[in-house]
Amino acid sequence: MVISQPKPQESEVNPSVSTPAIRHRPRRLRRTDALRRLVRETQLTLDDLIYPVFVREGTEIEEAIPSMPGIYRYSLDVLLKELAVVLRLGIKAIALFPLIPAEQKDNAGTESYNPEGLVPRTVKAIKAEFPELLVMTDVALDPYSSAGHDGIVEDGVILNDETVDVLVKQALCQAEAGADFVCPSDMMDGRVGAMRQALDADGWTQVGILAYSAKYASAYYGPFRDALDSAPQFGDKKTYQMDPANAREALKEVALDVSEGADLVMVKPALAYLDIISQIKQATTLPVVAYNVSGEYAMIKAAAERGWIDEPSVVLETLTSMKRAGADLILTYFAKQVALTWLP
Ligand code: PBG
Repeated sequence: MVISQPKPQESEVNPSVSTPAIRHRPRRLRRTDALRRLVRETQLTLDDLIYPVFVREGTEIEEAIPSMPGIYRYSLDVLLKELAVVLRLGIKAIALFPLIPAEQKDNAGTESYNPEGLVPRTVKAIKAEFPELLVMTDVALDPYSSAGHDGIVEDGVILNDETVDVLVKQALCQAEAGADFVCPSDMMDGRVGAMRQALDADGWTQVGILAYSAKYASAYYGPFRDALDSAPQFGDKKTYQMDPANAREALKEVALDVSEGADLVMVKPALAYLDIISQIKQATTLPVVAYNVSGEYAMIKAAAERGWIDEPSVVLETLTSMKRAGADLILTYFAKQVALTWLP
């Protein structure tokens, strides 16, 4: 026999509180995973990710970068094998960065436009084997500069217009090798316009420009400079990269790059600059790119190695925050791991 209990009166449960009628219950939309997916505002997909890779001279080399666990400098032969894997995982774009031997570096970065140099050779080989993989090449002098700066140095000053002339040669050399996008990361004034004009004049109208428009003078680039052995030999990069305290100046830089012919505009770093990403998204109709830089990668890796955070969850939360802020594309060293196992 079932004895049904009378329903307790509200006053009996907690005589001191009378619950008001709750009209809105946001928790209703969080009740199950299916429901949460149904109302999710931001989707992170592999289509959004660009994988930065490091190439060096030699053969059969896979050299670990201590401050970037899981990231390697590859010789070209090994890189090609790695890219086959990366493509199969669904990654569609890479950003290529070279480690240049010290003896090839000089003040004017002349190796940067050597048609037989490491980057053009690498781009040609990649495009021959994987024509569908989008290849983005970095345009800047620092990997080639004996001073470790992004431009030509004279009496401790980074020259602007003389540097732009070299950057244009570098961009043309990369276009000729088959790069889909040239990506000026140097922050010299006027480089996007000069590059666009030169590319068009030489018939490279299909080669795009991904402009590092709002690139800040950030301490988050440390591990990358280890990877490329490209740390400045004197001073810092504050006379060309932006002051982290400035937001309106980022809008000015973006407006200039758009007017000079950029196809994509970038904010770098990403995590400490989500407000900049958001403002730029409002200010332009071009796709916005965020660079989840080496220091951001290293921090998560270091904490995860110690067991202090759950790496996959933190990575997905971090990348999602960049998309939510307004990034359409994200350059991230996590791209391969995300593709391998982590995407929900
Ligand atoms: C240099 C360049 C840098 C990065 C990309 N291109 C470093 C710098 O400006 O010193 C940093 C990328 C990273 O930290 O992941 N032109």
